Amino acid sequence: MKVSIIGTGYVGLVTGVCLAEKGHRVICVDVDQEKVDKINQAIPPIYEQGLEELLEKNINVNLRATTDLHKSVIETDISLIAVGTPFDGSEIDLTYIQEASHRIGKALQDKSTYHVVVVKSTVVPGTTDEVVLPILEEASGKKAGVEFGVGMNPEFLREGEAIQDFMFPDRIVLGGIDEKSINALEELYSVFDGVDKLRTNPKTAEMIKYTANSLLATMISFSNEIGNLCTALGGIDVVEVMQGVHLDKRLSPIMPNGDRIVPSFTTYLEAGCGFGGSCFPKDVKALIAHGEKVGRPMRLLDAVIQVNEQQPQQVLSLLKKHFPSLKGIRIAVLGLAFKPGTDDVRESPAIPIVKDLLAQEVEIRAYDPVAKYEAQRLFSNHEILYCDDLAQALQDVQAVVLLTRWEEFKRIPELLTHLDPQPLFIDGRRMLDKNSIARYDGIGL
Ligand code: UDX
Ligand code: UDX
Repeated sequence: MKVSIIGTGYVGLVTGVCLAEKGHRVICVDVDQEKVDKINQAIPPIYEQGLEELLEKNINVNLRATTDLHKSVIETDISLIAVGTPFDGSEIDLTYIQEASHRIGKALQDKSTYHVVVVKSTVVPGTTDEVVLPILEEASGKKAGVEFGVGMNPEFLREGEAIQDFMFPDRIVLGGIDEKSINALEELYSVFDGVDKLRTNPKTAEMIKYTANSLLATMISFSNEIGNLCTALGGIDVVEVMQGVHLDKRLSPIMPNGDRIVPSFTTYLEAGCGFGGSCFPKDVKALIAHGEKVGRPMRLLDAVIQVNEQQPQQVLSLLKKHFPSLKGIRIAVLGLAFKPGTDDVRESPAIPIVKDLLAQEVEIRAYDPVAKYEAQRLFSNHEILYCDDLAQALQDVQAVVLLTRWEEFKRIPELLTHLDPQPLFIDGRRMLDKNSIARYDGIGL
């Protein structure tokens, strides 16, 4: 199929590159000329594992980028909207969605053949039907369901694994206002065999995305709350508690040969310093705000956010248990990205923790294998020593806090044994074996 993708951020670009790899003819559209130029030169504007290779392979074959939205819509059969949908503090900001819809509508005015417009960005339930569709009709002067189709197709891409998640999906949700719109989406995704495909209306498709993320966020805050209680009670380690819980055969089924299936779902049932990223905090808050708007407060999700916002404090409390005053103390902060495998620091728990440490006049040595530059931009006005390797960050510090589960951090116990005296180690993710480090403390211990 001929596909145009409007917005080539993280989601739009991954989608475009993967659909091209699957054999579709894709045009990536963005208002940002610099981004468009980079893509055309096969330089990914963002870091995502495997993206560069796929971009290089497909650019100028099945894929090209442009700023010309009008022409791209005319030349393709289906357009996917993947512009940003930030949370503005009180509700989800639909400005970019509205702009993109308007411009697509204007292009449809000049198009004689049937076209389908699909929302891929995460939007609150009702947005496709009540915001996008009317704008498209007004701008085009055409009737949805007659002269053009409308759909909603949420993404389920984890940062760092986005290419894998797109190429080997666990589900594909095909939301559409009518059979014809859903069929167009079905055709687009026919290149993915053997995957569960759910045909539904746009509003349900929108709700599926929010519900999926809210469930995972709830699991994390639940585990964190239990972890904090373990700490308060003393003599209980949340890691052991959760091991016991994970062994429930409904969470990790036992196969006939006695082996356990350990679903990755259980990795969301581990205590830590909180969730971050561009999705969980924003999506849960947007759903809460939307519930409020329709007179249905989301009390459980309110608590999920509250627990998460307080969770970074736990790291500070642990430090204070060992150092009554943090002033002048040298501390290594390991991991600035919101999770491993990405340079993304958006909503990273490391941000409030670093800010707090700075406020307490701590001397910070920060290390992250890839997020150094992003963090430097974020804390540009502050004095932080950024280290180029893990061993350097550990030199001469009195305490170490681990905030991201980078694979490389598995070397820490070994590196620490060479130091005398050994610094205090605070495990903000409960990543390392507590018995492998002399002075170990952590969340939920
Ligand atoms: C965004 C949303 O935030 C997320 O909720 C949704 O699921 C997918 O889209 P992301 O891809 O990370 O996620 O967004 P961002 O990196 O902000 O990229 C948006 C792109 O759209 C940018 O490249 C921007 O230049 C472009 N854009 C924005 C347009 O081309 N046209 C516009 O009118 C607005
Ligand atoms: C998430 C969803 O997983 C994905 O399906 C959706 O489309 C977009 O949002 P992502 O934000 O990339 O993906 O990250 P994910 O790997 O799910 O982790 C989110 C956050 O939760 C990270 O900050 C991570 O550190 C944190 N987390 C995860 C915990 O705090 N505890 C856990 O047990 C698991």
